[in-house]
Amino acid sequence: MLQFYLNDQLVRPTLRAGSTLLDYVRYHQHLTGTKIGCREGDCGACTMLVGELQTDATGQPVVRYQSMTSCLTPLGNAHGRHIVTVEGISPQGGELTPVQQAIVAEGGTQCGFCTPGFVMSLTGHCLGGTATAEAGRAAIDGNICRCTGYKSLERATDRLTAGLAARDAAPEQLGWLVEQGFVPAYFRQMPARLAALRAETVADVAARTGGQLGEPAEAAAPLAAYLLGGGTDLLVQRADDVLAAEVQLLYGQAERCFIREEADGRIRLGSATTVEDLRASELLQSRFPRLRRHLKLVSSTPIRNMATVAGNFVNASPIGDLTIFFLALDAELTLQNAAGQRRQLPLRELYRGYKQLNRQPDEQLTEISFRPPAAGEVFNFEKVSKRTHLDIASVNSAARLRVAEGIIEAAELSAGGVGPTPLYLAQTSAFLRGRVLSADTLRAAGEVAQQEISPIADARGTAEYKRLLLRQLLFAHFLEHFPQQLALSHLV
Ligand code: FES
Ligand code: FES
Repeated sequence: MLQFYLNDQLVRPTLRAGSTLLDYVRYHQHLTGTKIGCREGDCGACTMLVGELQTDATGQPVVRYQSMTSCLTPLGNAHGRHIVTVEGISPQGGELTPVQQAIVAEGGTQCGFCTPGFVMSLTGHCLGGTATAEAGRAAIDGNICRCTGYKSLERATDRLTAGLAARDAAPEQLGWLVEQGFVPAYFRQMPARLAALRAETVADVAARTGGQLGEPAEAAAPLAAYLLGGGTDLLVQRADDVLAAEVQLLYGQAERCFIREEADGRIRLGSATTVEDLRASELLQSRFPRLRRHLKLVSSTPIRNMATVAGNFVNASPIGDLTIFFLALDAELTLQNAAGQRRQLPLRELYRGYKQLNRQPDEQLTEISFRPPAAGEVFNFEKVSKRTHLDIASVNSAARLRVAEGIIEAAELSAGGVGPTPLYLAQTSAFLRGRVLSADTLRAAGEVAQQEISPIADARGTAEYKRLLLRQLLFAHFLEHFPQQLALSHLV
């Protein structure tokens, strides 16, 4: 049974799991503080907080809140969680919370349509980890305001962040937030409430399956029309179809959400691991020192909180950021069919043509593994888009490189937006290997790359523009990591 806490109330919707959380909240619960703007995850007007039960460093249950765009959140993904709307943080009696007060004080609202979304994103910032100016700005990177010009909202964010120093010094952060009126007192009860809900769910499933949660039930499950992870693509492209169909929910499934290092040094990911999970992983940060900066270029904070690795791969977009990232790493996929049989497939062999996958209808992508950069190797990711956040790439590219004593010993490059599928640049990579690192080599490699690509003109640029971008991104990979060996002036 689908059940979760909506603000202070336990709810048990009977709608389909593929309907949107936004519609349930507005049209069935009549909580209309949350607004609808784009319905595509682009504006942030529908932002809610989604609380997940976890344990802290001392083993105590805590709830971690993340912002999500409810227009793209499948209702089923709310199961067992705490969903918070702007009504759920508002004090009795119509006062404003400190977040709302900061926005008012800095003139951060005019028409007000975007304001509930900003309020929820900033409340999430206040409930989150260490409060830094950077984290504050990042918290609202998925919210668009058409009126204020943002400076007032940035000032409000900075004002809040400065005030959170007292929270960080308090003996109990949630207690401080409750006392200061950021969230109501019922938030204190949420860890215990969600723990009870989880225990109830485990008992319910065990009774129905005669066993434990996880693989046996999954293997026996009938084929669903749609596999739903974060919903960030399917609920944009096929919302009506998903609503009418049976769906298999993958988001947050423990057996699909993990990041671990194997004995042979490879790293293995569950297919429903989210982009923000990747970004937050200490293991991955240790292998990719620029990971947080690279993955910050992927969409926005609320979307990264929802979007999964496998969703990015099977979407088959020619400019999928994660696909480009993992193509350069030569990632290997594990596909499992309805009978439970598994096979391995290099990501580089997944794409057969535009939106065509080398995958049987009953096969699910369950795991991804890859060799992280070894000692002496560097990794780089570049993306050009019309705006830095919440945008699709015009062209993106990744590279794994090793250069020793001026020789390019290893090179694996990928590129998106320059063909019908995400591309591993096999010829360019082979051309680079064994050559002296110089401006001449890179210019020649740029010419090889031009033979491998076939960009088309679209809303993100002309074919000529994309050809030029790829050449520049190829240069950028080397300039980023080997600036002392290359003079930028030699590459124009
Ligand atoms: Fe615009 Fe949801 S309505 S992000
Ligand atoms: Fe009007 Fe932000 S105040 S859209």
